[in-house]
Amino acid sequence: MKPTTLKEFHTLYPTGFDSISVDVVGYCVAKCKYCPSGNDLSNAGSFISEIKYAAILAKLKKYGFYTNSTSFHIYGLGEPSLHPKLNEILKITHKMGFTTNYSTNIIRVPNIDKEGLKAVKHVIISMPGFSQESYDKIHGFKFELIVQNIKKLKKIFKNIPFDMSYHIYQFNLHEIEKAKKFCDENGIRFALNYAVMFDKNRCLDYVANKMPYEELKTISKEIFLGVLDDQIKASSRNYCDFQERYLAINVNGDIRICNSYTKKYEKNILCGNILTDDIDKIIKLKFSHPKCKICMAAGLSLGKIYDCKVYPDFYYNLMRENSYIKDAIKNSNIDKNKLSNEIKLMHQIRLWEQEHYSDEELSQLQSLIKLVSAPTKKIGSITKKYGRFPMVTWKKLQRYV
Ligand SMILES: C[S@@+](CC[C@H](N)C(=O)[O-])C[C@H]1O[C@@H](n2cnc3c(N)ncnc32)[C@H](O)[C@@H]1O
Repeated sequence: MKPTTLKEFHTLYPTGFDSISVDVVGYCVAKCKYCPSGNDLSNAGSFISEIKYAAILAKLKKYGFYTNSTSFHIYGLGEPSLHPKLNEILKITHKMGFTTNYSTNIIRVPNIDKEGLKAVKHVIISMPGFSQESYDKIHGFKFELIVQNIKKLKKIFKNIPFDMSYHIYQFNLHEIEKAKKFCDENGIRFALNYAVMFDKNRCLDYVANKMPYEELKTISKEIFLGVLDDQIKASSRNYCDFQERYLAINVNGDIRICNSYTKKYEKNILCGNILTDDIDKIIKLKFSHPKCKICMAAGLSLGKIYDCKVYPDFYYNLMRENSYIKDAIKNSNIDKNKLSNEIKLMHQIRLWEQEHYSDEELSQLQSLIKLVSAPTKKIGSITKKYGRFPMVTWKKLQRYV
């Protein structure tokens, strides 16, 4: 059953929406080609005013959309760090009894004081890889600046859960280990997610075999399209979690059916303004929008218990195995320090091989050997046993140990 009035919505969902996003900024400066707001500055400079923001939050409470069990986001498609008064926005968030998630491409490190911090529940940094080459392909930022900004942001949010959401593309698989290491060293939780083709109109073209050949050719080298195929296969075709359980509001207070369309297309997916329009009419349209029907029928909607393959299986297996081994070691008499150093050596040797025996990775390896004071015999046995090209690598490494 779909609600057609606010009253029916309350009967069906007494705890409101599971998730609500309000775009406090109406644009993003990143160039992400798979995100609907990437490479689009047509709305540049649009920021929500403090008055409008407070009024929207008041409506969210008044309508029972936001409750204690709702997760709230001050971003949908926009980049929140660009808001010139972000700290004020956060203070309003807290004052009005909300907590928010904060996802950022980290192009800017905002000034946030103690009061503003109280509103933030969870920080997420969106990463398209861990090198300048990957950044050139997606965000278009200077990678070194991003690394510095992450460290600065982590200091600001030192006591708040802080994740790196690493978007997996075909071209950045080999950077996963480096990114994970950076996270471990900086107290950041590492979360892998497949990069997806975010724009539903492009997905619809893909399903209908209407995608231009050149575009498909590029995508086929960057995104794991098989993930989309799996999602389509698993889709129920008559339900969308985003329609039922998520509320998306743009910088003007307009309710979108979801955050998966470009600015140019947005006029086709709006359901009315939360500040000025009749809420029953908004609810009716949100839960029966013709575009949602098309999307669901194509198998592109988000399922209820959608087996969301955000992690590649091999990585998930490895993570589980590693945590099992770690737990087993914790309860044994093995010299844990020694073991951990040897594993670090093994990883660095592998990295050196992967980076075609680069000087940079060699210098990291030399520093590590010095740091852990590993005997030459041990280094040799690790290289010969766990190297990808054991003899070649050992022949090269012997010169330096
Ligand atoms: C569109 S962004 C807006 C917020 C902010 N600009 C950011 O980059 O985090 C909202 C969320 O979408 C995710 N995202 C963006 N492009 C994506 C893609 N192609 N595949 C998967 N997730 C993506 C980001 O990680 C972020 O958490």
